[in-house]
Amino acid sequence: MPASSPRQMRLGLFLLSTGHHIAGWRHPGAQADMPTSIRAFAEIARMAEAARFDMLFLADNNCVPQTDWPAVRRTTRANIFEPIALLSALSVVTERIGLVATGSTTYSEPYHIARAFGTLDHISGGRAGWNIVTTSNSNEAWNFGRDSHMAHADRYRRAAEFVEVTKGLWDSFADDALVRDVESGIYFDAGKLRVLDHQGEHFTVRGPLNLARPPQGHPVLVQAGGSEAGRDLAARTAEVIFAVNQALPDAQEFYADIKRRLLAHGRDAEAVKVMPGLFPVVGRTRAEAEDRMAELQRLLHPDVGLSLLSFLTGGFDFSPYDVDGPLPELPDTDVGKARLKVIADLAKRENLSIRQLYERIAVSRGHHMVVGSAAEIADRMQEWFEGGAADGFNVMPPTFPEGFRAFTELVVPELQRRGLFRTEYSGATLREHLGLARPPHAARGHVALPPA
Ligand SMILES: Cc1cc2nc3c(=O)[nH]c(=O)nc-3n(C[C@H](O)[C@H](O)[C@H](O)COP(=O)(O)O)c2cc1C
Repeated sequence: MPASSPRQMRLGLFLLSTGHHIAGWRHPGAQADMPTSIRAFAEIARMAEAARFDMLFLADNNCVPQTDWPAVRRTTRANIFEPIALLSALSVVTERIGLVATGSTTYSEPYHIARAFGTLDHISGGRAGWNIVTTSNSNEAWNFGRDSHMAHADRYRRAAEFVEVTKGLWDSFADDALVRDVESGIYFDAGKLRVLDHQGEHFTVRGPLNLARPPQGHPVLVQAGGSEAGRDLAARTAEVIFAVNQALPDAQEFYADIKRRLLAHGRDAEAVKVMPGLFPVVGRTRAEAEDRMAELQRLLHPDVGLSLLSFLTGGFDFSPYDVDGPLPELPDTDVGKARLKVIADLAKRENLSIRQLYERIAVSRGHHMVVGSAAEIADRMQEWFEGGAADGFNVMPPTFPEGFRAFTELVVPELQRRGLFRTEYSGATLREHLGLARPPHAARGHVALPPA
């Protein structure tokens, strides 16, 4: 491996509950009460900032994602903080790290999202990001007065309009509109305030937003849908893309496809950072890492593994099948098309039984896993980063705090030694960390008060 590389990778921390291994909360390296402990979240956020991570990321659902209670009661997944409230709290105990939360375009309105993420951007001094999701979990429908989830194509059409309206709302005030002129008594220049007047297929939003333009112009836009419609939305709107890839060739295909789509939309290939998920189990030696992994796997209850596999395959019922037999043909799903393909491909490629498959999926939910020493994990990250598969990684530790501490203490210094990752922040905002331009103000709608 070369000693240094001029291009540096981006690192995000996917901050999920007690850790990404579904049974990890039972491990001595986890903190079982973390889902409702602000102190525990603050400790992890400071740890990620000390390691110079670009950002923290919180996934979200407006529901308990699985209702298979015999299995779900064995997981932490029914106990999740609301992400904007959590990130607002974390923004005051950190100074530099980016703060990315998930917001649904299916179960919220653009005005809510524009206010919440715009406020977070102000509170944090320009460190907010919005993970735009169309919502993969159909259980949310039942919490919002609907009998069923909107169809996949409709969700994505709504999402495209949603994002445009939200950006328009963030641009309500021009950057220099708030004059706060004590002498004249004019607080803002109404000639620099735009009323959006949006009327579209899904939304009618007059505007303006009741908030000054966010410090970053727009919070950073993140997207993670892997289907055809998801990739298209990402290429049109996103600035960071989270991906789920098991193997290097799939990741290379995804990366090349996204960069091609960007060019087709007249966007610069560098305008979007592709960050696949990475599940690292770190040891001082490979043997130590393998022991740690085996300890985690011993904690996995079969009901939990099978239930998670069913959930990730769109609710497929595995009960009529022998768990030690092959994976049956899975029907297409309207829920998570890309994830279903990753899982089915994995089973086929490695000829896995249902049990072997759920043992793999329970670990990283289809994301790439590396079990090894710091040098081995850094080798893999370098291979993907330099091999046209990633601009960085969304790091998914098996447990918090221990699994993440091992990554920051062992792998991060190794990446820094190779020149692959920063040793200091050079910017203040999330856009600056990621090397993304601040969007210029776009004058949409009509001026609130034209000059007399
Ligand atoms: C890293 C990552 C994080 C995600 N976080 C969420 C989330 O918080 N909430 C959600 O509803 N979907 C989440 N998703 C799912 C995607 O946004 C998307 O809805 C899903 O992949 C289905 O879309 P597709 O059919 O285009 O693949 C996430 C996906 C990935 C890869």
